[in-house]
Amino acid sequence: MDRSRLSHVHLYVGDACQAAYFYRKAFGFRPIAESPAARQPYTVLLAQGDIRLMLTSTTNAADPVARYVAAHGDGVADIAIAVPDVAQAFRAAVERGADPIMEPSARTGTGCTVVSATVRGFGDVVHTLVEAGTPLPHPTLSPIDGALGAPSDGELLRAIDHFAVCVPTGELDKTVSRYQEAFGFDEVFSEFIEVGEQAMSSKVVRHPSSGITLTILEPDASHEPGQIDTFLLSHGGAGVQHVAFETGDIREGVRRIGAQGVEFLKTPAAYYDLVEDRVGELGAELDDLRARGILADRDEWGLLLQIFTRSPYARRTLFLELIERRGARTFGSGNIKGLYEAVEREQSREDGADAV
Ligand code: FE2
Repeated sequence: MDRSRLSHVHLYVGDACQAAYFYRKAFGFRPIAESPAARQPYTVLLAQGDIRLMLTSTTNAADPVARYVAAHGDGVADIAIAVPDVAQAFRAAVERGADPIMEPSARTGTGCTVVSATVRGFGDVVHTLVEAGTPLPHPTLSPIDGALGAPSDGELLRAIDHFAVCVPTGELDKTVSRYQEAFGFDEVFSEFIEVGEQAMSSKVVRHPSSGITLTILEPDASHEPGQIDTFLLSHGGAGVQHVAFETGDIREGVRRIGAQGVEFLKTPAAYYDLVEDRVGELGAELDDLRARGILADRDEWGLLLQIFTRSPYARRTLFLELIERRGARTFGSGNIKGLYEAVEREQSREDGADAV
């Protein structure tokens, strides 16, 4: 899949109108295209920076979208990839072990013609391969008047930095191998993380040309069950745990998104007592990071700032991340553990236990 790039992320949701309101109001996305309102399933395409977020819901319980939502709750169903030649990319991926879902085809709907094909990713999440240069990535979509090509001022989010994916015990290495062999990803990071009685393994795979990055997490069966097990139970198997939005100003992001009522996971004050030992001097910014609960980390190339929302979904499965990279190309080891501990505190709070 040379010269490919991320096309869009497709969420299947209970109500696409409500979900669009949430992502528009809280995260600053703008709707740029939608399917006819009278048609089911209903799809709306949102944009911000390079991000294209597609939301689909249906009132038809027999539709695959409804079945996905019944099984997993609202979540990422498709990480779609734009490729120069769909038939060639599909054939190459399948020859190297990808599981075919839909053969290459040209579909003309209400709005446009779209050449695409679909292969399985992990769990029930698929990868649709869409012909690069297609103005709208789904044939039922039509542009919303005046919206295409009209980015609003002051956009906060630039791109999708990575997806975090939870898989059952025993699936991590198989999933990594499949992404290497079938899709040409590289393994760029690997870590075993222990937090108290719990533990997990994490590997990061990245596609060299598109930059699509998956952080894949697997619970360690020799330790006590933890939050990755909880995700797999609540979600009904493997799936996307969080989507990370890259921003140029995470502090402004927390301010703006928090002002819309989105809750971020809390970080204990003690984290900031030691953070400069790990990442170096933060100067006057340290107080600001502490006040907003932003995590700081470093790799060999530079600094990285991250924060995570509480899951806005009833199953407490999918949540969102903001990430600001100041040179860092991978992930510092401290923040994956930092995230794990923040989710633990959140789950303790929800269980009514004493939270830090
Ligand atoms: Fe992340």
